[in-house]
Amino acid sequence: MKICSAPGKIYFFGEHAVVYGENAVACAIDLRTKVKVEVQSSEAFKIEILSNYKAESYPYVVKAVEKINEIKKISNKIKVEIKSQIPAEAHLGSSAAVTVATLAALNSEFKLGLNLEEIAKLGHEVEYEVQGAASPTDTYVSTFGGIVAIPERKRFSAIDVGMVIGDSGKSSSTKEMIARVRSLNLEYPEIAKGIIKTIGSISKAGLQYLEKADFQAVGRLMDINQGLLEALGVSTEQLSAMCNAARKAGAYGAKLTGAGGGGCMIAICSRARVQDIISAISILGCKAVETRATNEGVLIE
Ligand code: PMV
Repeated sequence: MKICSAPGKIYFFGEHAVVYGENAVACAIDLRTKVKVEVQSSEAFKIEILSNYKAESYPYVVKAVEKINEIKKISNKIKVEIKSQIPAEAHLGSSAAVTVATLAALNSEFKLGLNLEEIAKLGHEVEYEVQGAASPTDTYVSTFGGIVAIPERKRFSAIDVGMVIGDSGKSSSTKEMIARVRSLNLEYPEIAKGIIKTIGSISKAGLQYLEKADFQAVGRLMDINQGLLEALGVSTEQLSAMCNAARKAGAYGAKLTGAGGGGCMIAICSRARVQDIISAISILGCKAVETRATNEGVLIE
């Protein structure tokens, strides 16, 4: 029996623009998914969901088992147990985390000797094949942890700053949100390209401020990034309202994270302000939780 866990992620900067080759900065967070893999004598392949995981996400686990089977024929009498702290379909990387943790647990249980690069690559293939489209960002961040600059995949240590996630409670499809930006890009190419390019510049500048731990500047750039995501049409009234509430309550900055159209926003702030920001978001009827950046990628528990 083996148990592995892997983290979810947020984007500090650059979602959507990264689809057009621009820079982005993502970061592993301390919400994790735990996967237990067990070989049983009597039962065939079985997935057991213990918490916070929706049946729609079974395909990631099934595909991960398939991928491992292509490398080495493994027993089909496997029981996979999933326990997750990451809300599903909220653009916090829950599917990448379950994929990476499953691959790592199978790797360990069946002594396959895959290294982290190989797990990240297989994880991307799983997401790509299940979803029909996926950037390697989520699976890479979930495998390695820390802050990751994309597309170079350069890794930086996690930062020490207050972070609050606000969850709109509405799910949305990443594929549809990407299509929305694509159609804006077709209709108004000059305008959309300008916005996308500017988001890329924000990511580059933002990374430097993250390295210097200048959180006022990071927050200011997150606010500008949010304005541009609104311009691209991927924010929602609720996401924008949560960002505004967080700023009013003293956040350095706030923006949606991931594809938008629902899902979550992220605010950064001094530790002293975390509770104020959680309260300000909760008043809007949305769920807010404190989170932290983490250097811990996939782990054997
Ligand atoms: O919604 P998420 O967390 O899967 O993030 C999507 C980010 C996009 O840039 C919109 C797409 C991508 O694959 O990079």
